[in-house]
Amino acid sequence: MAYNDFSMDHHWLPFTPNRQFRKDPRVFVAADGMHFTTHDGKKVIDGISSLWCVGAGHNRKPINEAIKKQLDTLDYATAFQVSNDKAFQAADMIAAMAPGDLNKVLFCNSGSEAADTSLKVALAYHRARGEGHRNIFIGREKGYHGVGFGGMSVGGIPANRKVYGGALLPRVDHLRFIHDPANNAYIHNREPVWQEDILLELENRILPLHDPSNVAAVVVEPVAGSAGWYLPPQGYLKRLREICDKHGILLIFDEVITGFGRMGTNFGADFYGVVPDMLNFAKCVTNGVIPMGGVICRDKLYDAMMKTEAPEHVIEFFHGYTYSGHPVACAAAMATLQLYKQENLFQRAGEMGKVLGDAFHSTFKGMPNVIGIRSLGLAAAVELAPIAGSPGKRAYDIFLDCFHKGALVRPAGDVLVIAPPYIIENGHIDTLVNTLADSIRKFA
Ligand SMILES: Cc1ncc(COP(=O)(O)O)c(C=O)c1O
Repeated sequence: MAYNDFSMDHHWLPFTPNRQFRKDPRVFVAADGMHFTTHDGKKVIDGISSLWCVGAGHNRKPINEAIKKQLDTLDYATAFQVSNDKAFQAADMIAAMAPGDLNKVLFCNSGSEAADTSLKVALAYHRARGEGHRNIFIGREKGYHGVGFGGMSVGGIPANRKVYGGALLPRVDHLRFIHDPANNAYIHNREPVWQEDILLELENRILPLHDPSNVAAVVVEPVAGSAGWYLPPQGYLKRLREICDKHGILLIFDEVITGFGRMGTNFGADFYGVVPDMLNFAKCVTNGVIPMGGVICRDKLYDAMMKTEAPEHVIEFFHGYTYSGHPVACAAAMATLQLYKQENLFQRAGEMGKVLGDAFHSTFKGMPNVIGIRSLGLAAAVELAPIAGSPGKRAYDIFLDCFHKGALVRPAGDVLVIAPPYIIENGHIDTLVNTLADSIRKFA
């Protein structure tokens, strides 16, 4: 297929430098297993599960078949006042996989919608209990919760917030970032251990400042994924749970990246042994094939919202999307979750994560400009010293170079991340790591 088989005049690309892209188009036309085919016929290995989505690899027949069957059976039905069988069945499967009493699933279509949904549940839940004054949210620096105004407000990636400041939610504060370059620059398949108690700040400064009785929820990613795979200090999430419990504050885990296998467990919550009050998911739930997101809520949230004096014809929670619980997305989710289970892919992700982490540390440590390496679960990051005055350029150049050599890796600031499908094999890890190493040397 040649460049001129499509025009590039009308598609405005998301989170992409469009001017550079037009000069150097990177367009996929097919995918299978671990690989894409580009418009000009090249093979590219998917080193990032197509942005943390494609856990089971590309073009999986059981998922494709389930989608086709669903299209021929019930293509779509509105989600309001009526529903469809697949939405109930998919919710059952998801709730059964979730830890503790995370049992009630609100469906949406993306991680951004999941973020906003969870913030709205928090406000509505507190209000239903007569604590409507709890309306402050606490996110974390460098957190990513998508691009809706709620998610952006609790998010903490400066470039994503910079232009929209005036429209962000007003009652939001942020925890400190979980990065300790002095003592924990190199994290090799383990949890970092910090000297300092980073959550003292929450207890001693942030909560007293706002008064804990005004705080609705704390929202964090168990592992800061989009920022560049930054791992929480050992014990951090447990302690965060304790602090939230002490003050009646809801704890929301954004597991859009860590959910459904990335850590070698069902959820990051399982990996860290902490049950949040809400758990946001998207991406791997459908293997990326059809958009779907959602929020799994603890029973107490649902129960409090149903305990209303309002007559039965009144909606309890004024929120939802036209495509919440879309039958085709739900069919895709069920086939995906079944495939993960049948092929034992979460366990495989945990095992291959160790191989990937070993390869990162043995290959990149000591290479030019490398100032940190972090691996845990099936993802690893190598952090590079930025070029003075051009933050992000070194990693972006390396990303481009890798692409041209046939490997899709993820630049995040001056970090490069590999987070492959769970079906990855040792040879693929060698290809990805060696390609990245060549490019790091080239741009030294
Ligand atoms: C933790 C987290 N939350 C939310 C989102 C936003 O998801 P979406 O792009 O599907 O809206 C992402 C996307 O990468 C994410 O990593």
